[in-house]
Amino acid sequence: MTDPSTPLIAVEHVDKWFGSLHVLRDVNLDVRRGEVVVVVGPSGSGKSTLCRVINRIEPIDSGVIRVDGRPLPAEGRALARLRADVGMVFQQFNLFSHRSILDNVTLGPVKVRGIPREQARRRARELLARVGIADQADKMPAQLSGGQQQRAAIARALAMDPKVLLFDEPTSALDPEMINEVLDVMTTLAGDGMTMVVVTHEMGFARRAADRVVFMADGQLLEQAPPTDFFDHPRTDRARDFLSKVLTH
Ligand SMILES: Nc1ncnc2c1ncn2[C@@H]1O[C@H](COP(=O)(O)OP(=O)(O)OP(=O)(O)O)[C@@H](O)[C@H]1O
Ligand SMILES: [Mg+2]
Repeated sequence: MTDPSTPLIAVEHVDKWFGSLHVLRDVNLDVRRGEVVVVVGPSGSGKSTLCRVINRIEPIDSGVIRVDGRPLPAEGRALARLRADVGMVFQQFNLFSHRSILDNVTLGPVKVRGIPREQARRRARELLARVGIADQADKMPAQLSGGQQQRAAIARALAMDPKVLLFDEPTSALDPEMINEVLDVMTTLAGDGMTMVVVTHEMGFARRAADRVVFMADGQLLEQAPPTDFFDHPRTDRARDFLSKVLTH
């Protein structure tokens, strides 16, 4: 058992380059159990890269990332296990297009977690009900609306019983009328105590659901504060400038 006070995710002095581009600059971030951290910042500031290094989709050049106290292994079985502890929901859903919604939610638990198929299917139906699309289980992804597909992707991530869920702009590909149905599911998850890191431009969600807002610019983590402090009293010019743009459009 890990000590409950150990941060679930600890990012320590992480640097990352893409060629000569320094995309993460000495980033330090702890995410505690049950905490909802919303990451905001201008385009190109490194928000997606931060998610991708936490999930080890991208390697880092220096520093350490720990999940539940253990440093992320570079590769192999241990990496697959740790990666399964960190669920990820992408802007583009990334469902398997030639598999039913139920299969999409069942495959990971069966293949990676070794859960018996019938048990995985029962649980998948429960999770689809939890995100409000129980009646879509037997359809193919293309037969669902964007909002329904994204809720299926959330159910798929939950099916792995992750310790933490990362969301990278989960509503940016959606039509406006579908954004709220996805944000509502995320707000409920947050209320249920799920540990979440959410990159989003939905400032209403950040105010409502975040325990902490993190502001990134140019690969640096410039501010971290509870949402009311961040939105009402940003401390840096970069954050003030960013907020004046996102809050008025
Ligand atoms: N695979 C890659 N190869 C080279 N450069 C990359 C790669 N991925 C991202 N970058 C660059 O790294 C920087 C950070 O990108 P990242 O996608 O993390 O930004 P972001 O904050 O998520 O932006 P957005 O709000 O537009 O999604 C950008 O300058 C981007 O062009
Ligand atoms: Mg991004």
